[in-house]
Amino acid sequence: MKMASSFNKLHILLCLLFATQTTMTRGQTRVDFYGTTCPRVQTIIQATVQSAFQTNPGVAAGLLRMFFHDCFVLGCDASILLSGTSTERTARPNLSLVGFEVINAAKSQIETACPGVVSCADILTLAARDAVVLAGGTTWQVPTGRRDGLVSQASDAVNLPAFNDPISVQISKFRDKNLTAQDLVALVGGHTIGTAACAVFSYRLYNFSGTNQPDPDINPTFLPQLRALCPNGGNASTRVALDTGSVNSFDTSYFVNVRNRRGVLESDAKLLSNSTTLAFVQKFSGAMGVPQLNFGVEFARSMVKLGNTELKTGSQGEIRRVCSAIN
Ligand code: HEM
Repeated sequence: MKMASSFNKLHILLCLLFATQTTMTRGQTRVDFYGTTCPRVQTIIQATVQSAFQTNPGVAAGLLRMFFHDCFVLGCDASILLSGTSTERTARPNLSLVGFEVINAAKSQIETACPGVVSCADILTLAARDAVVLAGGTTWQVPTGRRDGLVSQASDAVNLPAFNDPISVQISKFRDKNLTAQDLVALVGGHTIGTAACAVFSYRLYNFSGTNQPDPDINPTFLPQLRALCPNGGNASTRVALDTGSVNSFDTSYFVNVRNRRGVLESDAKLLSNSTTLAFVQKFSGAMGVPQLNFGVEFARSMVKLGNTELKTGSQGEIRRVCSAIN
């Protein structure tokens, strides 16, 4: 009898172990993954992001964009955080990323509290959520359990969306990551915070598609405002709010601006050029006469989906000791 019951216990244990391993190898994350192994992880990250945000609110946009650029290239595996001569960080669209020091600071405190347990990929994912909340966005629960990648190459960053991508290309780049047109519009709503360099949109103001004319999709009253901020031949690194009038506030005014042809990037303006993406812009912006969608809720939902892109879990990858280098 005793032997039978020990056998049963062993059997149950083995089944549980197997079940956990299969779910992990299937690449799943779960809320509170560090509940017992590093219970303070969320508090440490939140406090670190908050303190950086108090000094410079622009850091929220930096962290959000960094998370997006991480997830789109080899999945959410902190490959964006690795330094080196030809890593992802050196790819052109990534040269203007900011906020690396915030992730490194959180990681060093977390390593003191619970060494070798929390991945940099999860730290970045949690920090992006905290950044959104500090900027006034709706909060959500972040599934964790990602592992850090071992590969980072600038050449892999080619699939990042570009500022002049037509809407069909934007949609297909998101579809390649299992993200829908709704996810695209909700996530690009991240442009409700942060800035862009004149370098990535001034061609729209003076010489669009070689016409020596401005982009006809820019609202005529918005054009002189943008021109004043980015004079022809002026400083290409001057930065301009993506969401005019509400740069640090995570709200729906970006969609109102886009709807009114006050989107700064060509890719923002192009959201109006497809009936599906246009409909989501209208729903998120609170346009009259269309069914509404709650931007905060949908953004959160799409962020969780984005955060599950091409996961490394279980025994894949590693838990880095420092976020800027593999172990
Ligand atoms: C079609 C998709 C997208 C394109 C083409 C695009 C393009 C860009 C470009 C060109 C900039 C300005 C970069 C610079 O001048 O430094 C920018 C900034 C930004 N993007 Fe996107 N983006 C896209 C989607 C997203 C998504 C999905 C998110 C977030 C989930 C996001 C978040 C941000 C943020 C927060 C900034 C401001 C960064 C800062 O102020 O440091 N973007 N984006």
